[in-house]
Amino acid sequence: MRLIIKQDYDALSRWTANHIIEKIKGSNQPVVLGLPTGSSPLRVYKHLIESYNNQQVSFANVVTFNMDEYVNLPEDHPQSYHSFMWNNFFSHIDIKPENVHILNGNAPDLIAECKSYEQRIIESGGIDLFLGGVGVDGHIAFNEPGSSLTSRTRLKTLTTETRVINSRFFGNDLSNVPTQALTVGVATVMDAKEVVVIANGANKARALAQAVEGGVSQMWTISALQMHQNGIIVCDEEATSELRVGTYRYFKDIEIDA
Ligand code: GLP
Repeated sequence: MRLIIKQDYDALSRWTANHIIEKIKGSNQPVVLGLPTGSSPLRVYKHLIESYNNQQVSFANVVTFNMDEYVNLPEDHPQSYHSFMWNNFFSHIDIKPENVHILNGNAPDLIAECKSYEQRIIESGGIDLFLGGVGVDGHIAFNEPGSSLTSRTRLKTLTTETRVINSRFFGNDLSNVPTQALTVGVATVMDAKEVVVIANGANKARALAQAVEGGVSQMWTISALQMHQNGIIVCDEEATSELRVGTYRYFKDIEIDA
């Protein structure tokens, strides 16, 4: 696993956006991206939009699969992950709407929806690069602590901690935050050819330390990245505060050119 430590949020976002652009430009096949919501990837999306506007990249040949979606939240609700993705990214680039895949948290049969999502990923040829954020409790997508590391797309109940953290998007009213979500599983993410996780800010320091220095554990689902052949965490200085000095220096040294 690589750990790339950048000075601040903007620098890590720029590195990540450039990495994605290189992937798209370096391929003559459609590129399949897994994408997250949350505040962490916002600046990456902003840089990708800027690069599109400057004609440095086109998304016409990009297929996307989002990580997760709330259950029972109308698709047009401002805090649905459908709204998030269209407002913050897709509406501003040349992606083909038929190439965008987001789980339907209002599907009449949620289990069938999850099954068909896994199928659609396989039919698209698999995910080339899965971009992710990480929860304060170390979750990836909505794979809360205790999620099986072999989990697949499914229905998950959200922890109170996650709902409290996400209530900032719902007028700080916990009762407005959905209690369940559909999410890709840990194994769905790990099947991707490459996984890039963004960790920024002091509140991610504990999760980052567990991801890098802790053992592989279902209690910190991000730690599954240790088993991936092409896993990268891109973080800012603030997020490194719980790493050992030796770990910090090691990665700073070997990633000096990143
Ligand atoms: C949510 C999302 C995750 C995201 C995490 C961190 O619960 N389901 O995909 O990575 O929170 O969010 P943020 O980037 O806002 O800190």
